[in-house]
Amino acid sequence: MLVIAIDGPGAAGKGTLAKRLAAHLGLDYLDSGSLYRAVAWRVIQAGADPADPAAALAEAKRLDPADLGRPDLRTERVARAAAIVAQSPPVRTELTDFQRRFAASPPGGKGAVIDGRDIGTVVCPQAKAKLFVTASAAERARRRTLELQGRGEKAIYAAVLEELEARDRRDMERAVAPLVAAPDAHVLDTTDLGPDAAFTAALEYVTGLSAS
Ligand code: CDP
Repeated sequence: MLVIAIDGPGAAGKGTLAKRLAAHLGLDYLDSGSLYRAVAWRVIQAGADPADPAAALAEAKRLDPADLGRPDLRTERVARAAAIVAQSPPVRTELTDFQRRFAASPPGGKGAVIDGRDIGTVVCPQAKAKLFVTASAAERARRRTLELQGRGEKAIYAAVLEELEARDRRDMERAVAPLVAAPDAHVLDTTDLGPDAAFTAALEYVTGLSAS
């Protein structure tokens, strides 16, 4: 099965790129962050503490795929809680199993594009195509501020930057499946690349692999 793994920090442009690659190549797309967000959202809804591993694991075990597209998963509050539940190894195991099942049998049967933090390193280390999409913290905070404002949320650049950097640290410093580029990943720095240029560069890399 063809798997394209796309990892990187928040607001680097992974989602936009992954969706475009999937549509272009006729593959199915999975946003693995939405799994962690859905668990965090359910924990918050239940009035529990995201830092309580038992509460997070219970929600991970009854993950409902129907939750994944909920617009209320996209808030900064849920993102913060997602990075907290994501530190728990049993929660990660549960969600990793879900992602591996998707990669092994994507709905369209042709292949999958999965984006996240640990796809090329832990979830699908055998993936032939691995991209590590990154950008400067200042540029990522600029993009996330515009995205939140576009959805009608009050977002202040300095606060968004601080929040992103705190989440980067949490993701990079956790003991299990930390955010890191796989040694065989192709690094794409989008600080100075718009969505079209990033897509062109990524497609060149992916098609170059199948030609080789
Ligand atoms: O949209 P953004 O890139 O900011 O975040 P996301 O991809 O929705 O991920 C939210 C949080 O879930 C991340 O900060 C990680 O802590 C966690 N996550 C993870 O641990 N592993 C993944 N494969 C995907 C997300």
